[in-house]
Amino acid sequence: MIVVVDFGSQYNQLIARRVREHKVYCQIEPPHVDLAYLRSLNPEGIILSGGPSSIYEKNSPKINPDIFKMGIPILGICYGMQFMVDALGGKVKRAAKREYGFAELIISESQGIFKSLKDTVQCWMSHGDSIDRLPPGFTATAFTDNTPIAATADFNRRLYGLQFHPEVEHTPKGKQMIANFLFGICGCKPNWTMKAFATETIETVKQTVKDKKVILGLSGGVDSSVTAVLIHKAIGHRLTCIFVDNGLLRLNEAAKLKTMFKEHLHINIRYVNASSKFLRALAGVIDPEKKRKIIGKIFMDVFDAEAFKIRGAEYLAQGTLYPDIIESRSAFGGPTSIIKSHHNVGGLPKKMKLKLVEPLKFLFKDEVRALGKEIGLPDDLVWRQPFPGPGLAIRIIGEINAKRLSVLRKVDAILIEEIKAAGFYKKLWQSFAVLLPIKSVGVMGDKRTYENIVAIRAVTSRDAMTADWAKLPHKLLGKISNRIINEVNGVNRVAYDISSKPPSTIEWE
Ligand code: XMP
Repeated sequence: MIVVVDFGSQYNQLIARRVREHKVYCQIEPPHVDLAYLRSLNPEGIILSGGPSSIYEKNSPKINPDIFKMGIPILGICYGMQFMVDALGGKVKRAAKREYGFAELIISESQGIFKSLKDTVQCWMSHGDSIDRLPPGFTATAFTDNTPIAATADFNRRLYGLQFHPEVEHTPKGKQMIANFLFGICGCKPNWTMKAFATETIETVKQTVKDKKVILGLSGGVDSSVTAVLIHKAIGHRLTCIFVDNGLLRLNEAAKLKTMFKEHLHINIRYVNASSKFLRALAGVIDPEKKRKIIGKIFMDVFDAEAFKIRGAEYLAQGTLYPDIIESRSAFGGPTSIIKSHHNVGGLPKKMKLKLVEPLKFLFKDEVRALGKEIGLPDDLVWRQPFPGPGLAIRIIGEINAKRLSVLRKVDAILIEEIKAAGFYKKLWQSFAVLLPIKSVGVMGDKRTYENIVAIRAVTSRDAMTADWAKLPHKLLGKISNRIINEVNGVNRVAYDISSKPPSTIEWE
């Protein structure tokens, strides 16, 4: 395995993904990680990530420099390299000119990281500081017009540094460089597959849970579904899933999920229909944050009460993913964790002292999908687009009631049907409809209408942190609009949302 030390770069998750794409397991640790713990992980190599700081800033992140004496190959990227150079007796200076964007990298030493790479390759730069003087034992291995030491190595101690970012797509040979580090320098074996992960995780769950019972809050999304199937494979009927119907789900969603889990996957599922409780509490509520608070609170109460009925349960399973873990302890906290905090519906039932089981906590979303496929989840579940915990409540702008829910459900069903039929469903991060709180004038037959407007939102994204509005074909948009206006009573206008995130968000509320 490889350890990535997170110095706060926006690319640190990308580094981990790049390593895993080569089938080598990789874990991200904060700079204050204890070296004894680091050694106990037995890594074959360490990557020091980039970061937004200058090493001369007072509070810039630091790792114990004894890391360089551990005898483990180390690759420093950008800030990671500057930290290494400084710690080992070299000098880093503020460059006269900030370098940002593409640069031509001229390789002078075709070995180590640059093995089989020759002459000039394109690379992606993003830095202010650069190396002024190398520490003893290091040589310069590549340069650019603007940066005389764009890469460096101490071949004896197996310490390497790159000023540019090999993990981004703008460095086309970056994949090869990372492979050189993993296989040529660290001697890793490409044996981390989802199959191996599934076998290992099922075994760990068995060992941990033993003969006890586990409860899981099922939402129908990919993460909780994969968690459920994985745990079911480990402990069978001792897993009970609780599925709370909040009355804010899409058309036929609850029924489909019940059938899938009970009849196809043979997993214990307790269905709690709490729709009226939620809808009663939401009556007249317009403020989105109030809606979220109400839904979160009732969810917890209903879930608690149901979980309490399951006697002898000792564990609570959750589909927490790796980005949640990394973001909550990132070197610079960052606003991402705050924006996301309201997303983590759930938590521990209050009356019970449950221990957590989080089998996906080291996986990224696309890996969870691959795992789901590996352990036999149907495509329909594996490829589900994310759906927010508060459901349609935050897609009905303004007041929520049974009538408006019914209108939005019909619109949404048409939209998803057409998006799937056109082959766009898997390509989009999310696609959904939003019901607006205003009416517009239309004409149907010879009659004037005065009805609702719906907005269609379709976005592409890697991780929901940023998103682009999807450039769907006009013909498809036209068909969706026609069908909605013709088939759904109460809608006479369809608009398409052409805003990206930032500055907009994916959901409207
Ligand atoms: P925004 O709207 O913040 O959404 O760009 C980013 C991602 O998070 C989802 N989302 C939520 N998920 N509870 C959830 O479980 C929420 O309150 C919530 N709000 C937004 C959204 O669907 C998108 O995938």
